[in-house]
Amino acid sequence: MSTTNETTVNETHQPEVASAAPAVPEHKGQVVIDVRDLRKTFGKTEVLKGIDCQVHAGEVISIIGPSGAGKSTFLRCLNGLDTPTSGSVIVNGYDIADPKTDIDKVRTQIGMVFQHFNLFPNMTVAENIMLAPTLIKKVPVDQARARALELLRTVGLEEKIDANPDSLSGGQKQRVAIARSLAMDPDIMLFDEATSALDPEMVGDVLQVIRDLANKGMTMLLVTHEMAFAREVSTRVIFTDAGIIEEEGTPAQIFGNPQSPRLRSFLSKVL
Ligand SMILES: Nc1ncnc2c1ncn2[C@@H]1O[C@H](COP(=O)(O)OP(=O)(O)OP(=O)(O)O)[C@@H](O)[C@H]1O
Ligand SMILES: [Mg+2]
Repeated sequence: MSTTNETTVNETHQPEVASAAPAVPEHKGQVVIDVRDLRKTFGKTEVLKGIDCQVHAGEVISIIGPSGAGKSTFLRCLNGLDTPTSGSVIVNGYDIADPKTDIDKVRTQIGMVFQHFNLFPNMTVAENIMLAPTLIKKVPVDQARARALELLRTVGLEEKIDANPDSLSGGQKQRVAIARSLAMDPDIMLFDEATSALDPEMVGDVLQVIRDLANKGMTMLLVTHEMAFAREVSTRVIFTDAGIIEEEGTPAQIFGNPQSPRLRSFLSKVL
């Protein structure tokens, strides 16, 4: 197991904005995710072509970019759902690619919420949220239920504790999925297009839950198509294209003063 507590500077590669302010000015905290030259190949296709990224505790990073850029693959490499072809991914000091690493343990520290909520349909809301804490962390059932209730309160769904997932709207299901992730008390959360499968009127409630988490200091990486939200909530925005980090910076830099032609072209289509 290696540790990553030596890093306090932003080592981000920013060839096109070399004179701009550092992307992580006020986050001098510990590096909790350290990605070096991450490459991922599916068959003959190299999908990630050398990603370098250090995430400091408390950062909220939005990852934007066109379809197929490798955004989901990148997130999946952070919690071991995809195995890097080469390079290193260190999360909270654990080397994700090391076969000796207890990946289940790492996953208790890094929650992930997907576009599709994947709630277990044969379990109530409470049972969905209590499953991992009782099974993996051996939390007693009454404690796990009390925590489930508390989490449901924070996502505004206290009254749904004994409901069946089928009876919930998409936005409600997604908020339960977030509560379920939070039940393991992760210190990092990954969101992969958590709102893109939702009806427009449901999006705001889910974004509010993510905003609340950001305000509480949760370290988060969000793949999102919600540009206004990314601009509002992020401490840093990363633009990926064709398997590389094409440009990164503060929201003001990325949305207000984009440098790369590819980023400019992308923003002209999505803003
Ligand atoms: N398991 C897999 N097997 C083969 N190819 C894959 C696999 N997962 C992803 N890919 C390919 O890798 C590329 C990047 O996919 P990825 O899902 O990471 O993109 P993305 O940026 O998340 O796109 P989107 O915005 O559409 O979600 C795509 O060309 C995709 O087809
Ligand atoms: Mg994706």
